[in-house]
Amino acid sequence: MSTVPLGKGNPFLATIKERYRLSKPGSSKLTFHIVLDLQGSGYHYRPGDSIGIYPVNRPELVDLTLDAMRAVGSEIVADKQGEGSYSIVDFLTHKANLSDISRKFLGEIALRQTDPDKKEKLNSLLEEGHKEELKFYLENHEVWDLLLDNSMVVFTPQEIVNLLMPLLPRLYSIASAHKVVGDEVHLTVSRLSYESNNNLRHGICTYYLCDLVELNVPCVPIYIQEHHGFTIPEDPDCDMIMIGPGTGVAPFKAFMEERVATEATGRNWLFFGECHRAFDYFYEKYWLELEDRGLLQIDAAFSRDQDHKIYVQHLMMEKGAEIFAWLEAGATLFVCGDAHRMAKDVETTLLKIIEQFGDKSPQDAKAYLKLLRTNKRYLRDIY
Ligand SMILES: Cc1cc2nc3c(=O)[nH]c(=O)nc-3n(C[C@H](O)[C@H](O)[C@H](O)COP(=O)(O)OP(=O)(O)OC[C@H]3O[C@@H](n4cnc5c(N)ncnc54)[C@H](O)[C@@H]3O)c2cc1C
Ligand SMILES: NC(=O)c1ccc[n+]([C@@H]2O[C@H](COP(=O)([O-])OP(=O)(O)OC[C@H]3O[C@@H](n4cnc5c(N)ncnc54)[C@H](OP(=O)(O)O)[C@@H]3O)[C@@H](O)[C@H]2O)c1
Repeated sequence: MSTVPLGKGNPFLATIKERYRLSKPGSSKLTFHIVLDLQGSGYHYRPGDSIGIYPVNRPELVDLTLDAMRAVGSEIVADKQGEGSYSIVDFLTHKANLSDISRKFLGEIALRQTDPDKKEKLNSLLEEGHKEELKFYLENHEVWDLLLDNSMVVFTPQEIVNLLMPLLPRLYSIASAHKVVGDEVHLTVSRLSYESNNNLRHGICTYYLCDLVELNVPCVPIYIQEHHGFTIPEDPDCDMIMIGPGTGVAPFKAFMEERVATEATGRNWLFFGECHRAFDYFYEKYWLELEDRGLLQIDAAFSRDQDHKIYVQHLMMEKGAEIFAWLEAGATLFVCGDAHRMAKDVETTLLKIIEQFGDKSPQDAKAYLKLLRTNKRYLRDIY
């Protein structure tokens, strides 16, 4: 029996015991509710914690990569640290990032490329001042199509292994309260698929969780990632405003389960956003039940139900006076979900609300928000 404690370096093998679509047929999203069984792990978790998952590459991607490498699969390779030896098929399946290409890999191909046009193109991508072109190229290639584009460059399997980046774990917000579900972890996972360079690509971990993992088999390597302050207020009387569009809603399900189970008396207000009310109102029944019981106030923005976009921040602006009053009364405001656009736009709106309804200058509004952040009353978990 292993004496290494369970954790990131020694993950527990969890079982997916339930998996169903939250986005209804007709939705452009494939968002799933996933229930993992933790029995036997001894894991405990708190509201705001996430789970780390070590994914496995899908077999089709591994085969494409093997073919592009001209390998059969049984070739033996060592990892970069020289700590273990693996068959190349095993290494590509469990250890290698087959989606992302390092600059070093591209540089090595450029160095070995003998076709002058291709060599020049690669070298040009790597030149200073071509950051955007390089980014575009890397976003539109996985390891296998980079190798196929440069099929005259020959590598041994070990040389390729030395140039690959590691397959890293992904984090998912826990969408359940331990107190309520016991030895389970609930997740809200949006399966990522996109087309690039005329190929349909899939997110590694979301494909793994939503498609690849067989139900009821203890095979998903996981660990608990404790939150760094993104959690419900210690004071049960404290009010919470939660902004969680898309999968950003996940931790707020956990927050509400915990607050209801502990009979916390603070008020709770959720801003949820998705594409269509008819298909994408995740956990609608749960939220509406809480609303009926007077335990939650919910505002939901459905971006594609009308000609113009309606996002969470538009509803926040409409309710700006009330939001400011909640903040003045001591509420904590949480934001979870997309970091690239949503979190920035929500922050801009929040500043406008503070300016307009708090009668403050832009500088004073910034200082007000800064103070909220310092006092851990403006908390974000964004990705
Ligand atoms: C603290 C935290 C909590 C999180 N919680 C959740 C959660 O509750 N639910 C959830 O679903 N996710 C959550 N995530 C995100 C999650 O960790 C993964 O990043 C996400 O699921 C994608 O992983 P993947 O392995 O499927 O995709 P990957 O294989 O890692 O692919 C993602 C990459 O694909 C590329 N890409 C995406 N779209 C395109 C496009 N259109 N064109 C070109 N390239 C593209 C981008 O380079 C992107 O970085 C969380 C992240 C963090 C940090
Ligand atoms: N890298 C990217 O460009 C990109 C894009 C989308 C999602 N993602 C990632 O994909 C994962 C899953 O996303 P998800 O399914 O949870 O939901 P999501 O794609 O974030 O969408 C949820 C809702 O947010 C809306 N939205 C889009 N832009 C917004 C903005 N600026 N402000 C407020 N709301 C906005 C969407 O509307 P519309 O879609 O109708 O505009 C949709 O109604 C997340 O990890 C997210 O970060 C990345």
